Amino acid sequence: GHVVVLAGGLSYEREVSLRSGRRVADALRARDIPVELRDADATLLDSLTDDPPDVVFPVLHGAAGEDGSIRDVLELLDVPYVGARPDACRVVWDKPTAKSVVRRAGLRTPDSVALPKEVFHDLGAASVLDQIVRGLGLPLFVKPTRGGSALGASVVHEASDLSAAMVGCFAYGDAALVERYIGGTEVAVSVIDLDGAPTALPAVEIIAPGGRYDYTARYDAGDTEFITPARLTPEATARAAAAAITAHRALGLRDLSRTDLIVSPDGEVHFLEVNVAPGMTETSLLPRAISVADLDLGEVCESLLRSHLR
Ligand code: DAL
Ligand code: MG
Repeated sequence: GHVVVLAGGLSYEREVSLRSGRRVADALRARDIPVELRDADATLLDSLTDDPPDVVFPVLHGAAGEDGSIRDVLELLDVPYVGARPDACRVVWDKPTAKSVVRRAGLRTPDSVALPKEVFHDLGAASVLDQIVRGLGLPLFVKPTRGGSALGASVVHEASDLSAAMVGCFAYGDAALVERYIGGTEVAVSVIDLDGAPTALPAVEIIAPGGRYDYTARYDAGDTEFITPARLTPEATARAAAAAITAHRALGLRDLSRTDLIVSPDGEVHFLEVNVAPGMTETSLLPRAISVADLDLGEVCESLLRSHLR
């Protein structure tokens, strides 16, 4: 038997996933756990059936990794794996659905509207965009309803910029989520199930160059400044941790998640999204929170793996 770390895949976040996967595999190997780092390519199915792993750690970002489909395959083959189950992944993967779930669970999340590509390409697009600006105000944040790493995402300050933002968004997805932009402190709170109880790690504050935490700012070392724990009041710190745990529970997540939040100047916490396969690269947020919490990435990954060994 053996442990397989699944990375790569065919999503837009393939390169990020390969970096995340290497980091997880290295951290486990440092604890003398023999790990196979495997690309989630077309040969995956055969290898899973020919030589089923004892347990899989999916470190796949984006489509197939976070939409539940690869985990459906693991369920079908009865291969244990770390992380959320397929149904929970599907709910989280669709940002508007995740927002409505956490809103029902009592969290604040920016008002928004989701718009399919087809509507935008209709002749009526201009008036639809006018309506959105009238309804939500400015500035706005536009991103694909499904996806990650800020690909296709942008801030819109002027009504006349919305159209271009939508076009940029549709390069990465078939529907756009247009949200009211909430200014404030951008923080990420990771949650890990330790001994069966979801535990919030210290909030990581993100200070991106020019306030834009885009793809480059995420993955080019040194571009973004991170402050951990985030510079929040004790009350806001507690609210952010509670929000991440509420999201983790309300969305039925398992083992690990990372919730991205904005803390507005009035101290209110606003939910943006959750990630079921948070980035694990050298510049990513969850590994940073783990080290500030005086935990070890390899130790955490090992304990998650072990909880699924039969
Ligand atoms: N989607 C990237 C990997 C993240 O959320 O960290
Ligand atoms: Mg994300």
